[in-house]
Amino acid sequence: MALFIAPIKYENGRLYLLDQTLLPGQETYQEITTKEDLWDSIYKLKVRGAPAIGVAAAYGMAVCSRAIQANDLGEFAEKFYELKEHIASSRPTAVNLFWALNRMESRLLSLEAQIAGISSWKEQFAFIQLMLLDEAEQIRKEDEEACYAMGEHGLSLLKKGMGILTHCNAGTIATAKYGTCLAPLYLGQERNFDFRVFADETRPLLQGARLTAWELHKAGIDVTLICDNMASIVMKNGWVDAVVVGCDRMAANGDGANKIGTSGLAILAKEYGIPFYMFVPTSTIDLNTSTGKDIHIEERKGEEIYKMWYEKPMAPEGIKTYNPAFDVTDAKYITAVVTEKGVVYPPYDLNLPKLFSHSL
Ligand code: MRU
Repeated sequence: MALFIAPIKYENGRLYLLDQTLLPGQETYQEITTKEDLWDSIYKLKVRGAPAIGVAAAYGMAVCSRAIQANDLGEFAEKFYELKEHIASSRPTAVNLFWALNRMESRLLSLEAQIAGISSWKEQFAFIQLMLLDEAEQIRKEDEEACYAMGEHGLSLLKKGMGILTHCNAGTIATAKYGTCLAPLYLGQERNFDFRVFADETRPLLQGARLTAWELHKAGIDVTLICDNMASIVMKNGWVDAVVVGCDRMAANGDGANKIGTSGLAILAKEYGIPFYMFVPTSTIDLNTSTGKDIHIEERKGEEIYKMWYEKPMAPEGIKTYNPAFDVTDAKYITAVVTEKGVVYPPYDLNLPKLFSHSL
């Protein structure tokens, strides 16, 4: 199998994040030691992709909480909560951030009985640190396993020689390992599926060009980079047999928020009769959000559209901009939702909750 580059590394007690803003030119890791480092890395998309944000936040909470000054668990928990709220304010859409932060807090609160038998706060503090790291490690491991399983389930929907279109980056560097919608492409490569992949460049932050094209090309997978506005011609030419995308938050009715541009692709796919598969680990399903309308869509600075990647501004200074980072694909355009527990088909409002009660 391909060599997978890790977006998050925890080594010798230190946390390092791959700075994805420097890709594909530079593979550089930044050490995270403070809550400001962590917040900034998530906000600036140095670490990005819903599952990777969750894993980074979990390790980040373990590492940054070492600096908490407290005298007992109650005081520690209060300051941990403040830290959690601060990190939660970095990006609003991907639910994995909140999911991972809540898991870390629940683990902390579950320790009360266990630390009761430890005499000094100093030793209790050391034990808490170990348990927080253990929780972060579990979150990482579960995500890796979920991605592998999504790879298998996703591959069961695809056939040898297919043309596959993808948007943004839901690959190995957006997760603990393997990716969500790119996982079946890696498994397919091992099993000689000979996929032909089309990667949308994904304006304005170019995750498709800088990350997906880089990641797949490096792995030796046949990938062709296209501009976002070329998806329709590529479909019309008959070169696309399936569209695979990731997800940042799926509401209870199956509406799925993903990188801006995803919903347009889904509508095009329907027009051309091409199946549209959204890859959604259960950590990305938010049953507390009823429909896509209730999902908070992040808006980012307009400079990302006309300045960030250019030597000179590509629009007049002071131009009005609208820069939503995500859009919501209505459930009716999603052929199937691929999770680590299996493939879910409509009606999603009935079938998604089953994932959380018993197996499919
Ligand atoms: O703004 P980004 O780069 O964090 O957006 C990423 C996406 O939209 C991904 O498709 C999604 O998070 C799924 S990653 C497995």
